[in-house]
Amino acid sequence: MAMEDISTKRNLPIGFMDSGLGGLSVLREAVRIMPYEDFIYYGDSLNAPYGTKDQEVIRKLTFHVAEQLLEQGIKALTVACNTATSAAIRQLRVTYPDLPIIGIEPAIKPAVIRSHGGRILVLATPMTIQQEKFHRLLDLYKDQAEIIPVKCEGLMEFVEQGNLDGKALDLYFEEHLAPYLSENTETIVLGCTHYPFLKHHLRTFLGNKKIEIIDGSLGTSLELKRQLEQHKLLRPDDRKGQIIIQNSSPRQELIHLSWRLLSFPID
Ligand code: DGL
Repeated sequence: MAMEDISTKRNLPIGFMDSGLGGLSVLREAVRIMPYEDFIYYGDSLNAPYGTKDQEVIRKLTFHVAEQLLEQGIKALTVACNTATSAAIRQLRVTYPDLPIIGIEPAIKPAVIRSHGGRILVLATPMTIQQEKFHRLLDLYKDQAEIIPVKCEGLMEFVEQGNLDGKALDLYFEEHLAPYLSENTETIVLGCTHYPFLKHHLRTFLGNKKIEIIDGSLGTSLELKRQLEQHKLLRPDDRKGQIIIQNSSPRQELIHLSWRLLSFPID
């Protein structure tokens, strides 16, 4: 590529997408480590949740969002959604071979590396857990730890509604998570990008149990930075970047909520 092409490209924003507001948990890490970059975030809340739809539908929706971002001009795409990554990342990379495309998967590897032999619970959408990609990941680590997938249908909706704490969330955890919590549960992996926004309340729910809660948002952002570096697409660190937030839903309050989530204290 000619020098001027590269420098024009370098100044393009980085595209981020999710089925809704969850990917903001990844975007906030990316902004933290690359504050000089511009970002366009597209939440497909109109079509959320993805995690209970079938693979073909999720693939179509993911491509549709990717195309909307590409039309605006982006230098890389982060699929900040575990569900969309497992359903569509391979096809996206085939269709757009020149675009750096970064996906996210449940942080099982770091959980196993840090574990001391205790149980690891992986919270994710039904679709993520059902996918072959997830089973391959489990197979890689199943001899090193007891890893239990926990399907969390209906959990992302709390975030989409801005309900990040309260009685209904407690009831949800009581019903869907508590049955899997054992004396030796050591780690909870948040395998959906919406869930880090519920981490604070999850800690309250777990009380004094010593359980580490981890997610893949920093790892994914570091991978994005690494790929931009490798393609010589990192912007110079000469000014503060801009963030644009878009959403497919006509619910205007979602844009408001998105900005709130970007600076919501997670830990
Ligand atoms: N945020 C998405 C993920 O990481 C899923 C939410 C949904 O079901 O749409 O899997």
